[in-house]
Amino acid sequence: MSNITSEEREKLLEYAVKYSTPLYVYNGDLIIQRYKELYEYIKWNKLRILYAVKANYNVGILKLLKSSGAFLDTVSPAEVHLALKLGFAKEDILYTANNITDQEMHEVKNLGVLFNLGSISRLKKYARAYPGTEVCLRFNPDVVAGAHKNVMTGGDITKFGILLSEVDAVKEIVKEYDLKVIGLHEHTGSGIGETEKVFTSMKNLLGIASRENFPGLQFIDFGGGFKIPYKPTTPRIDYASFGEKIGAIFTEFCERYRKELYMYFEPGKYIVSEAGILLVEVNTLKQNRERLIAGTNSGFNHLIRPILYGSYHQIENLSNPAGKPKVYDVAGNLCETGDYFAEQREIPEIREGDILAVKNSGAYGYSMGSLYNLRAMPAEVLVINGEDILTTKRLSNSELADRLIDSYLK
Ligand code: LLP
Repeated sequence: MSNITSEEREKLLEYAVKYSTPLYVYNGDLIIQRYKELYEYIKWNKLRILYAVKANYNVGILKLLKSSGAFLDTVSPAEVHLALKLGFAKEDILYTANNITDQEMHEVKNLGVLFNLGSISRLKKYARAYPGTEVCLRFNPDVVAGAHKNVMTGGDITKFGILLSEVDAVKEIVKEYDLKVIGLHEHTGSGIGETEKVFTSMKNLLGIASRENFPGLQFIDFGGGFKIPYKPTTPRIDYASFGEKIGAIFTEFCERYRKELYMYFEPGKYIVSEAGILLVEVNTLKQNRERLIAGTNSGFNHLIRPILYGSYHQIENLSNPAGKPKVYDVAGNLCETGDYFAEQREIPEIREGDILAVKNSGAYGYSMGSLYNLRAMPAEVLVINGEDILTTKRLSNSELADRLIDSYLK
């Protein structure tokens, strides 16, 4: 992860004045670069990269990705509606259903999007309602991997996917209702550092993807989870050799299957994380015995990753980059004890009024935000080719209060 250049610093400080803080700033050019480079790294002609909308559903980002021909992975009816309203074709969207209601199933089915089903229970309900239709099936790859236990989606302790050992039960339902299984899917976890585990997941899923089990496959989807470095000392994964290995595994499989299938991946973090910065302003410095606390005008309502996963987000002091480093706890403004972006972190001297950049905040930042303590979400700015575009405004405190009153049903 590179440090912010002096030119970028000036720009960010300019945006902090122009739009005020807290503010999310996204680098649109980097988002497109990340999206496109995966096509370079992963050596497969019939490759599709589905951006995982859950990482960041900013409309400007989605429109930008659309202009680059992106496909989408969605997980809620509203994400599907949003994608369609923005002009994405229904064929370019996959809907990964988890613990959905019948009403939700019918709503999304009416929108014409392909379902990715991850339980026998839902498969049966889907089959009864829509016999003879196309479907994708999500299996649990039986591999445990990811940056934190809350982002591991394979193995024994997970609510996701059908067990590989349940393939015969799946086949019976498919046969009875004449379903066309055109895709198989697995997602192992988020921020996977051990690439070997990705290869094992792939092989486990491909192990059941035979012609005998599923004769009509068109694609195999290996989910997201591409790790990016959050700490400056963490090396970047060599995605070029990773991509080659993946290509080799898939080539061997397709030869066995006697058909060249599409290969899908669904990264979210990889595409948007590094492109996003949360700008916050320090308003209070406090010495609490041995702890020096820098209190900011944001909190875990805007970026919950540190408190939820113990995630590390690098913090730069944009206003005083050459200041003498000191050790700080960087806190938010919520009435809650765990409200910190960082603890015991060395940062160039912070003064009240300084603007801090909380880096790698483009994925699962705004999209996991909330109105806790009834504080508005930050505004969002997308920068493309040097031009800054305000994509989301921050509600004023009075507007926020009005929203609640307006939606109150007397
Ligand atoms: N596909 C499926 C089915 C998923 O469940 C996920 C993420 C992705 C793709 C995208 O994964 P990614 O490439 O972004 O790692 N909030 C957590 C991450 C949770 C991911 C949930 N599923 C975080 O901030 O680390």
